[in-house]
Amino acid sequence: MKHTQVALLLLMLSVITQASTTEATTSMSPLIDTTLQYLSQPRETTASHLRMTPELFANVSGSLDDHGNCQCSVYLPDTTFPVQKAEQLQVIATTLVEKFERELSVVKEYSERIELYQQKILNLTIRVEHMEKNSVSYTELDFQLLKVEISDLDRLVTQLKSTVVGSNVIVDQIYLEIRNLTILVNELESLDKNNILSIRRQIVSLQNRLKECEESRNQTTVPPYFPPGSCIHGGLLNVSQPYVVKLNWRGSSYKYGSWGRDYSPSDPEREVYWVAPLTTDGIYFEYFRIYKTFDDLLLFKPMYERRITYGQGSGAALYNNIMYYHAYSSRNIAMYDIANNKVLLSKALPDVAIGNRFSYAGVSWQDIDFAVDENGLWVLYSTETNMGNIVISKLNETTLDVINTWQTRQYKPSVSNAFMLCGVLYATRTLSTRKEEIFYTYDTSTGQEGHVSIIMDKKLDTIQGISYSPTDQKLYVYNDGYLLRYDITFRH
Ligand SMILES: *[C@@H]1O[C@H](CO)[C@@H](O)[C@H](O)[C@H]1NC(C)=O
Ligand SMILES: *[C@@H]1O[C@H](CO)[C@@H](O)[C@H](O)[C@H]1NC(C)=O
Ligand SMILES: *[C@@H]1O[C@H](CO)[C@@H](O)[C@H](O)[C@H]1NC(C)=O
Ligand SMILES: *[C@@H]1O[C@H](CO)[C@@H](O)[C@H](O)[C@H]1NC(C)=O
Ligand SMILES: *[C@@H]1O[C@H](CO)[C@@H](O)[C@H](O)[C@H]1NC(C)=O
Ligand SMILES: *[C@@H]1O[C@H](CO)[C@@H](O)[C@H](O)[C@H]1NC(C)=O
Repeated sequence: MKHTQVALLLLMLSVITQASTTEATTSMSPLIDTTLQYLSQPRETTASHLRMTPELFANVSGSLDDHGNCQCSVYLPDTTFPVQKAEQLQVIATTLVEKFERELSVVKEYSERIELYQQKILNLTIRVEHMEKNSVSYTELDFQLLKVEISDLDRLVTQLKSTVVGSNVIVDQIYLEIRNLTILVNELESLDKNNILSIRRQIVSLQNRLKECEESRNQTTVPPYFPPGSCIHGGLLNVSQPYVVKLNWRGSSYKYGSWGRDYSPSDPEREVYWVAPLTTDGIYFEYFRIYKTFDDLLLFKPMYERRITYGQGSGAALYNNIMYYHAYSSRNIAMYDIANNKVLLSKALPDVAIGNRFSYAGVSWQDIDFAVDENGLWVLYSTETNMGNIVISKLNETTLDVINTWQTRQYKPSVSNAFMLCGVLYATRTLSTRKEEIFYTYDTSTGQEGHVSIIMDKKLDTIQGISYSPTDQKLYVYNDGYLLRYDITFRH
């Protein structure tokens, strides 16, 4: 109240001061005082006014005129005093005061409410503290039971609501209470001191997700990864569908040949590919191309084209920049340095049967088949003493000496092709014009034979050559002039 008054009075003072003329200044001040007093103490107005009257008019000298009339001049101090304005202000002040009092009562009401809320909060705090102190432990079961009960109630009431037509006030009331109960239970749950419930629930949801994950994993088995060059896996599990890379660089009439990727143990990441179509009669291994990237291979951009005079059959293999091949019409195996374009060595392979005697089924002139795996260089062939069955020899890649030899019991002309992988021989046979089967294994580390059934789809009738690359763990297959590639999955 005080502030309003002061502000109002100051306002009026300024109005009055402005309104007063300069000549009236002196005599004005009492009036202003009166006004101010009037405004501040409305009830005393009359008395103060009367009290002030004598002071208003100064002693003035009068005179008599010719007709005996008394004349005197009275100096009226301020003819411009805004009496009306003052009255208006008075009214405004009154309404403002009323307004203020109203507001004040509202504030009082609010503060009372706030006090009530504070009390409620205090009560709640005390309740929560009480719960915490007494370690009220609600088990999940308690809450679950409560929830079951509530949901049962909810269901019943919902049924009731639909059946009771008309006066269903009580039902509505129960319905509301159940809703409140649900909220209450949820609140109680959130008060659980150790958050055990939520943790348990998280665990359950995690377990469920794990279970789902496991189930989906069982449906689509993610092939395990084994780093290139490693043999920590349990052997070949499956092969992918063939990727048709392209037709060989000499064209579709060059149906016989081989292709693959170089493996250099000292530089296992190195990318070098070779493509070696035989002459169209399927006997001579003569020209081949070297590509230094897969893109170059696709774009017909060879790093070299080389000529050998002559190799025989489609059993050649590139290992550490050396092309190993069967020297035509001899018992010799030879090594050819592709970078320096020269034959390094040619040496007889003991006991080898030559002259297309025990070549693969459907593939002529492949008496000697070179293979490269994680362990190095191998040669697959047949001998008279082993009765045409496959003989595996591990070679010294620099001297071409046989380090070790294994005699299998698998007749070479009954298999369509073979390759080595982690010291295990895998042999294929033809099932149809579009399917080949990897069916036979020979583990050189144990001397054990085995039988598997891994189906290899093919694009054309005959697989002329299969080379395994330890670098990218893929199979490179020369299929009647087309270059196919297969991804491999391994067992654990
Ligand atoms: C008015 O004037 C008369 C005579 O001059 C004097 O006696 C009287 O006291 C004056 N009154 C006032 C209020 O000044
Ligand atoms: C707070 O608790 C006291 C005692 O338990 C009770 O009398 C009072 O009504 C409660 N106040 C409110 C606002 O709930
Ligand atoms: C439900 O809770 C609200 C708010 O707490 C309250 O206003 C209402 O009266 C309660 N209803 C019943 C049926 O208890
Ligand atoms: C997933 O497969 C494994 C082994 O085959 C089996 O032990 C497990 O029970 C299977 N899990 C599911 C959820 O089917
Ligand atoms: C082997 O791979 C082929 C081609 O991806 C697939 O169709 C087949 O189901 C696989 N076989 C097994 C036993 O995983
Ligand atoms: C190959 O023979 C050479 C010369 O005898 C020898 O130094 C090298 O270690 C042998 N390599 C293998 C893999 O046996």
